[in-house]
Amino acid sequence: MAIRQIRTIGDEILRKECKPVKLMTPRTQDLIEDMFETMYEENGVGLAAPQVGVLKQIVVIDVEDGEQYVLINPKIVETEGSVTGYEGCLSVPGKTGKVTRPTRVKVRAYDENMELYELEGEDLLARAICHECAHLHGELYVDLVEGELEDADKVQEDEEEE
Ligand code: NI
Repeated sequence: MAIRQIRTIGDEILRKECKPVKLMTPRTQDLIEDMFETMYEENGVGLAAPQVGVLKQIVVIDVEDGEQYVLINPKIVETEGSVTGYEGCLSVPGKTGKVTRPTRVKVRAYDENMELYELEGEDLLARAICHECAHLHGELYVDLVEGELEDADKVQEDEEEE
């Protein structure tokens, strides 16, 4: 396993469409392990393959609900509700902004064994699924931010005071 370098905003690779994964290979298994390790190292709750420079439709998520999710070739098939909240991205270091996302989503994806499954998420998990799936199509949360991007440290301080 290895920590991979995270690409940051301005890097063209973050704006490209990712290719579907056709079959699992040892190389792709290594990539998935490295993505988890890199995400934990950076204290993220999700990471998409293009963020480590690989244009494949692979997402990893851990919102600390006791599960590690691997989403390969994910498709969001249902959404419900909407909620506005602060969101950040390891590819946009030190920043945060308000984004409106569904409160509940259902996503259909392959797992690391290339078995099709469905995952339903609410709240933070729903937000993470939407955010990470968008990365696979070259979309960043900054495209959706309502108002200005803000300094993540400042927003955290304000929220702690409330
Ligand atoms: Ni992100």
